[in-house]
Amino acid sequence: METIFSGIQPSGSLTLGNYLGAMKQFVELQEDYNCYFCIVDEHAITVPQDRLKLRKNIRELAALYIASGIDPNKATLFIQSEVPAHTQLGWIMQTQSYIGELERMTQFKDKSKGKEAVSSALLTYPPLMAADILLYNTSLVPVGNDQTQHLELTRDLAERFNNKYNDIFTIPQIKVSEVGARIMSLQEPTKKMSKSDVNQKATIYMLDEPKQIEKKIKSAVTDSDGVVRFDKEQKPGISNLMTILASCTNQTLEQIEEKYRGVGYGQFKQDVADAVVNELRPIQERFYQIIDSQELDDILDQGAEKASFVANKTLAKAKKAMGLGRVKKR
Ligand code: TYM
Repeated sequence: METIFSGIQPSGSLTLGNYLGAMKQFVELQEDYNCYFCIVDEHAITVPQDRLKLRKNIRELAALYIASGIDPNKATLFIQSEVPAHTQLGWIMQTQSYIGELERMTQFKDKSKGKEAVSSALLTYPPLMAADILLYNTSLVPVGNDQTQHLELTRDLAERFNNKYNDIFTIPQIKVSEVGARIMSLQEPTKKMSKSDVNQKATIYMLDEPKQIEKKIKSAVTDSDGVVRFDKEQKPGISNLMTILASCTNQTLEQIEEKYRGVGYGQFKQDVADAVVNELRPIQERFYQIIDSQELDDILDQGAEKASFVANKTLAKAKKAMGLGRVKKR
């Protein structure tokens, strides 16, 4: 069975973008792959975090994975900082990365723009991400399309290491879902929906109440054209809502265009809101059942143990290939 790895940062409340672009795919993929899903808390601290909020976000993210349908009997769910091999291989991957290529990463440029104090970890974020993936002999990484640049770099670093030392790492493929890979802001539909958007109306959070969801979708920016048609350039707002509806109801964009021919935006927005509420309701119910449970801790304990076992083996091979440590005399 081939292996999948993916991670989500506990850097805020999870959005509909995270769910449709990433988590929803994970649930389907766990049936056919050996999956590792990670709460990447060490990535989250590359920008300042409030200690108590971070703790809360980590646990909530774990509960959301389970509530969305990740089955701990099929997939390994764990917290990155509970498996020390990640930062250890992360350091090794830094030695293989060039400052120039790290400075070219869009995420680094976006997150450091206009800031005075930018942590060096924000720059060396991608080698840690490469380590996450490479520790598990991962062949496939499902992500939203904002992560493809990091994954191209992961492939380059793995190849560079393999060529220089020994063929240790599997070169991972990137998997971006066809619909939902880039959910946009409801208020500025040319910008991606983001956990950290200051405008609360721009983002649907997975734990938003039905009324909030309805209100946000009804006030989503559209156009004055009155036609439900997919056209990302001319009609980014409507196209985004169509993508959301398609992802939540498993309809194609063509089916949606057909269905809403001659129907106004009012009805269309109502249907999008209903579809999102229906998609998130069972997840929210399960979330509140498990968030404070011992079961969640057990799942994370077992996940960390299982992940460590595999990760430590790869780390040992990489260290040996580079000549780190020693060979014992007896
Ligand atoms: P993060 O935490 O920003 O996002 C988690 C996942 O959600 C996807 N995503 C979106 N998809 C569609 N529309 C959106 N608006 C949207 N916003 C976010 C992301 O593409 C991602 O798949 N660097 C990663 C975390 C990470 C990781 C890894 C991922 C660390 N190590 C190893 C894969 C493999 C990140 O910041 O994702």
